[in-house]
Amino acid sequence: LDGNPWGVWKYRCLLPVKIDPVTLKEGGTPLYRCDSLSKELNCRVYVKHEGANPSGSFKDRGMTVGVTKALELGKKAVACASTGNTSASMAMYAAKAGLKAYVLLPAGKVALGKVAQALMHGAKVIAIKGNFDRALELVRQVCKEMNFYLLNSVNPFRLEGQKTIAFEIVDELGFVPDYVVLPVGNAGNISAIYKGFKELKQLSLIDSTPKMIGVQAKGANPIYKAVMEGKDVIEPVTNPETVATAIRIGNPVNARKALRAIYESKGTAVEVNDEEIIQAQKDLARKEGIGVEPASASSLAGLRKLVENGYIGSDETVVCITTGHLLKDPEIVLKVCGQPIEVPAEFEEIIKVL
Ligand code: F0G
Repeated sequence: LDGNPWGVWKYRCLLPVKIDPVTLKEGGTPLYRCDSLSKELNCRVYVKHEGANPSGSFKDRGMTVGVTKALELGKKAVACASTGNTSASMAMYAAKAGLKAYVLLPAGKVALGKVAQALMHGAKVIAIKGNFDRALELVRQVCKEMNFYLLNSVNPFRLEGQKTIAFEIVDELGFVPDYVVLPVGNAGNISAIYKGFKELKQLSLIDSTPKMIGVQAKGANPIYKAVMEGKDVIEPVTNPETVATAIRIGNPVNARKALRAIYESKGTAVEVNDEEIIQAQKDLARKEGIGVEPASASSLAGLRKLVENGYIGSDETVVCITTGHLLKDPEIVLKVCGQPIEVPAEFEEIIKVL
């Protein structure tokens, strides 16, 4: 490790791998103190920007561990179903490791930047006429048949890598925040981050865990519905739909773990609509200089709801996780921001539109 471990691998003693890791220097992402949003929302708002990872999402933390494990187990090929980011990240780490990569995507429902990444890093990309939940069913079958190593978040080593988000939050803040707020799709990340906090508690490095807040899009909200009804199993949403394609998931595989994280930590879940998501995306970009994709912005949209309904009070500290970079989904930006203003190449013409 060049004698100088970075990001995720600073915590190697808490990660279950035996060989030298396949790493692209993932993790070590910035934790921003957001003064403008703090003032507006009357609480202390921090944003942990996972878009700053090598492939532009938090998935890299899981993939560095998952792909290392694939090598350790002598696998020759890895595979996943994805709403986009998992496939981009897996393709990147498989390239670094010299493994073959196979990806199943819901056709027409993956943001352009993510497909571009998976293709450029050399994965075989297959688009199915079905949604993510169906793609995951299929890839599980394919992995069994073809002896591919499955790298969706049903793979426990993925979550081991992602738990380092919790370690970094405590390291950077120097204390445990009251709340951690994040988007929930397949529900792996909320489970992983909570596991990270629990491990720190078991090691007596912290006294308590934050309350875990899961944010879902209104059209893809099975975890939210379960929490509202106090249930510990979900009822799948059959035709999930949202502008936040990353979390367009109706039957999250890690639902039970996620619900346990929410209940045990005394947190909650919240749902937000597409308009609220886009507004939060603009606010992060324009008030704090943080460029995120729509799914990531749902964390701020969710926080805003919880402040409005009095759930989160002043003086409390909140860390929002922004899970993916703005450039992942350029098409949505052009839809919601419009196109650049075109003028003839003349000084007066420019002054006119300024
Ligand atoms: N945010 C982004 C940007 C994501 O890409 C995802 C999941 C999530 C949040 C939700 O995380 O599934 O752990 O609850 N994307 C997966 C994918 C499903 O295929 O890229 P989760």
